[in-house]
Amino acid sequence: KRILLLNGPNLNMLGVREPGVYGSETLTAIEQRLGELAKQQGVALTCYQSNVEGYLIDRIHEAYGNMDGIIINPGAFTHYSYALRDALSAVQLPAVEVHLSNIHKRETFRHTSVIAPVVIGQIAGFGAYGYELGLNALVRHLQERDE
Ligand code: DQA
Repeated sequence: KRILLLNGPNLNMLGVREPGVYGSETLTAIEQRLGELAKQQGVALTCYQSNVEGYLIDRIHEAYGNMDGIIINPGAFTHYSYALRDALSAVQLPAVEVHLSNIHKRETFRHTSVIAPVVIGQIAGFGAYGYELGLNALVRHLQERDE
């Protein structure tokens, strides 16, 4: 199985950025650990981060036919990017939405996810561990689908 891990704007600043909210681990460290966990499950993980909406959309399009699923933390795009949502909808790949923080107990503008309606499910509030949960959930979903 091939899974694409996408991280949106400002997530390259993990470790530095509001560690009280997002934890002190860097994105590189998270990506490395997730890559190892994926490998143990026979999954090839490709990681990509961008601060640019269009680049994330390009990656989602490229995933069509080349990936089996997507794990995405869209950052603030979560709350307003219809373009990102439409891209996920267009490729019809199983996707899991991950947030480090519990967006539902933060500012009101973070309570809405325009991405949520086009993913299998959302994981929020478990810090970097959420990516591991997301990986396991997606792998399980793909296995059950292909049974
Ligand atoms: C985030 C939550 C978003 O509201 C915020 O804009 C982010 C990170 C999270 O992982 O908790 O950039 O997606």
